Amino acid sequence: MSLPKKVKIVEVGPRDGLQAEALTLPLETRIKLINLLSQTGLKAIEVGSFVSPRWIPQLAESERVYQGICKKEGIDYSLLVPNYKGYERALENKVTSIAIFTAASETFCKKNINLSIEESLEGFKSFVPESKKKGLRVRGYVSCVIACPYEGRISPVSVHKIVSELFSLGCDEISLGDTIGVGTPKQVHELLKNMPVSLDRIAVHFHDTYGQGLVNVYAALEKGVSTVDSSVSGLGGCPYAPGASGNVATEDIVYFLERQGIETGIDMKNLLRGADFIDGELHRQTTSKASCALRKTKFGRL
Ligand code: HMG
Ligand code: MG
Repeated sequence: MSLPKKVKIVEVGPRDGLQAEALTLPLETRIKLINLLSQTGLKAIEVGSFVSPRWIPQLAESERVYQGICKKEGIDYSLLVPNYKGYERALENKVTSIAIFTAASETFCKKNINLSIEESLEGFKSFVPESKKKGLRVRGYVSCVIACPYEGRISPVSVHKIVSELFSLGCDEISLGDTIGVGTPKQVHELLKNMPVSLDRIAVHFHDTYGQGLVNVYAALEKGVSTVDSSVSGLGGCPYAPGASGNVATEDIVYFLERQGIETGIDMKNLLRGADFIDGELHRQTTSKASCALRKTKFGRL
């Protein structure tokens, strides 16, 4: 099995991270975090969500965040869009990249977006093909690809079915979410086996609840995946997935990959500045071991 020479990291901290925090941060803080992350070499950053502010108050006014950030050329700045109303918000703000989201578990889907899986896919048909015609990039998320907090184990076959549907709608990339972070490498291999689309169109999105994030990323790379979602300082979770903790930390992934000789293009020192900033604003300790160790050495004797 050969590992990729290069991995693309999709930074989801400003969205997945902040949506799960008890504190709702001021817009300037959200903007500053993204501006700091834009200085790291990251090529993809999730800026926020066009969802209901009643459901996710932490990400209210994501349009103002999108308008307020200094957009660096070459970075894909995306926002989550659950329905047509979210799509309209994206268009009004000239957003060029959106992410739709559904799940492989009926119960989670209902709790997360108040729709069945089928209804969610029907809803996407009303704007995804149109988005593609307008030249937007569309990422599709499937949550609960290993297990659901309400239904337990989810079979790879049911995930594959949704992946196929999202691709036939026109998604450019699909991100597979182990929302509650229970998976292990064997399950990741099973999930990626017989995937109905090429693995170069698949990203992995592992929450680190059980400390399996990094080994699961490795397992996915072994199978040919080369796009990995992660969150600065390990921020994250989903308010509709009780007990889920943050995504695998970007610092852990970058440390690991670079030391394995796999290029990420990310400058660790600048990444640590972003991590230090957001942890200070949230009054939290990092959950990333690499981040913690490197910060103790004054931003890293790498
Ligand atoms: P609903 O209550 O069923 O919606 O919510 P509705 O159509 O009945 O509308 C109710 C109200 O919401 C109306 O306002 C709408 O205008 C408004 P009112 O008339 O009462 O004042 N509304 C909206 N407002 C702003 N933007 C919109 C929008 N749509 C309706 N787009 C809805 C349905 C989808 C809106 C709601 O369930 C929702 O916002 N859910 C968001 C859940 C969410 O963001 N979850 C976290 C992200 S997913 C995740 O974290 C997993 C992931 O990381 C992968 C993984 O880890 O597995 C991606
Ligand atoms: Mg997530």
